[in-house]
Formats: sequence, C-alpha cells, structure tokens
Amino acid sequence: MNDETPTLDDQSPARREELAQLRAGLNEKRKWISSMYFYDEKGSELFERITTLPEYYLTRTEVAIMQAFADDMAACIGSSATVIEPGSGAGEKIGLLLRALDEPVAYVPIEIARGHLEASAESLAQQFPAIEVLPVWADFTRPVEIPSPRRASKRRVVYFPGSTIGNFEPDDAVALLGNFADMVGPGGVALLGVDLAKSAAMLEPAYNDSAGVTAAFNLNMLDHLNRRFRTDFVRDNFEHLAFYNAGRWRIEMHLKSRCDQVVHVDGEAVHFEAGETIHTESSYKYDDKRFAALAEAGGFKLLRTWRDPDALFSLRYLAVE
Ligand code: AVI
Repeated sequence: MNDETPTLDDQSPARREELAQLRAGLNEKRKWISSMYFYDEKGSELFERITTLPEYYLTRTEVAIMQAFADDMAACIGSSATVIEPGSGAGEKIGLLLRALDEPVAYVPIEIARGHLEASAESLAQQFPAIEVLPVWADFTRPVEIPSPRRASKRRVVYFPGSTIGNFEPDDAVALLGNFADMVGPGGVALLGVDLAKSAAMLEPAYNDSAGVTAAFNLNMLDHLNRRFRTDFVRDNFEHLAFYNAGRWRIEMHLKSRCDQVVHVDGEAVHFEAGETIHTESSYKYDDKRFAALAEAGGFKLLRTWRDPDALFSLRYLAVE
C-alpha cells in the first residue's frame, strides 16, 4: 500500500516565475537566492527564536523604544487614525501602538501568509473591540487598495517595525516607501523601525549567534527549496556565513559551499566551487543622513527620530511630502 501523501506538481504561472528567478540567480557570477525563501513554517519559527537571542539586540531594543515613547508617537499621529501594517505577520508589536493612540478607527494588516493574517486579525479584533479590523491578503510591495473604515478617519499611518526596510536594496526601499506614500495618501504618515549603523564588532554577533539559530535559519532555506522546487541541495555541503560589509552599510548573509559540487535545479546542473557562496540576505543599516535621504527619495519627509540610550536602533516618523 502506498501511504505517502502525493506531492502536488505546482506548474502555476507564479511558481514558474519563481523558478525562473531562482535559476537566474544561481546562474549569475555572484550567486544569489531571494530571502523570501527563509520563511516557510520552520523558518518563521527560527526567526521568532532569533528575535529572543541575547546577541540579536534589534527586537528588544525596538520594543523598549516603543514602550518609552509610544505616547509621544501617538501625539504625533493624532486621534482617529487608520493604522496600516504591511507584513503584519503574527502581529505582536502593534498592540503597543494601538493602546497608546487616541481612539484609533481601524487597523489594516496586510500579509501574504493567509493563515497568519486570519489568526492575527481575529486576535486583534478580540483585544481591541472598538477598532475595526480590515485584513488585506496581499503582497505589500505591490499597489494595495486600502479599505475604508465605517467611521471617519482623520489620517492614515503605515506602521512598519522590525527594520524590515533594511532587507530591501536601497532602490527597492525607495519604491517601497513610494508604495507606502500611496497607501496613506496626502496628509498621511509612517512610523518605521530602522536599525542603526554601528561597529562590525557589535553587528556581526547578532547574525552569528552562539546558539547557531541564525545558521539554522539560513541553512533551512535549502530544505525549503528542495521541497518547493525539487532541487537537490545537500544541506551539510553548505555553511552559514554572515559579515558586515561596511562599504555598503549592510550585513550580508551567504551560504558557503564546503566542497566542489553540483546541484540540480529543475534538471539543470549548477556548479559550485569549494568556498563559493550564495548571497541569501542583505540587512542594511542606516545613519540619520542616509535614512533622511532614503525617506525623501521615497516621497516622505523625516520629522522625528526616537532612539534607545545606546543608539542601537531607531523609530522614524515620516510624513508624505
Ligand atoms: C527581518 N529582518 C529585519 C531580519 C534582519 O535582521 O535583517 C532578518 C534576519 N536575518 C538574520 N537574522 C535576522
């Protein structure tokens, strides 16, 4: 008897496009794979663990800044706001903002992972019965139509914490900000979490934790790809590599080949030399000047910045120009 669950051979246009991008990235001189493949179920769990690691200062510092300055942020945003959260995920930080705001009218989480979106929308609706929750299942990097709440709202605000903006190449970050500006419209604002540039000595351990969780997160991408595209990556033939590229203001994560090897991607052989790497993620860090320039290129003016006392992380308040 065959008791294996049959696997679906997904030949949809979206999957074919993904496969074409994967092949193209692996055929470039400097091989790369999109960081979106970190986030299967296991990868999302590993990322949650990363956010609690002693070396990964970003999340706890951002939460501390939110706790210290939420009232100040709420005063900037004003009453009767509609809060839009692109990539809301499991939706834990939003409570800090919603609780501080004066009579927010609606909360619009935008998320591509439908299960997360439905679960977090339901839990937020229960926690905040006075706020209309209007979940949108969409890719927030593309134009999104923001639903109108029943009650009149005075202003829209995009809340984008976590320094996820840093995972976008600067040109893509500018385009993303342009998309946020369209979502909030004239008079709209944004509150963004942005990791600050600092020494490699402080940055690198955050992406090379001693418990090896970030390494497992990076390598898990290969298992995910093998399931999704039937590639034949051997996980043990690669190792995690993360370093600060100061000239480009970014942490780079790579998967480094431990040996000369061949991997098959949809029947096509991809050769790796020992020591050759696949670039899997960039995490850009900003100083004030560079972030203000990025905001401006994206159609926003930087109005306020809140930092922790050690200047590790920042929250930025921007208004549509
Ligand atoms: C989601 N993002 C802000 C994380 C970061 O720090 O760039 C992703 C991550 N990669 C490795 N550790 C965390």
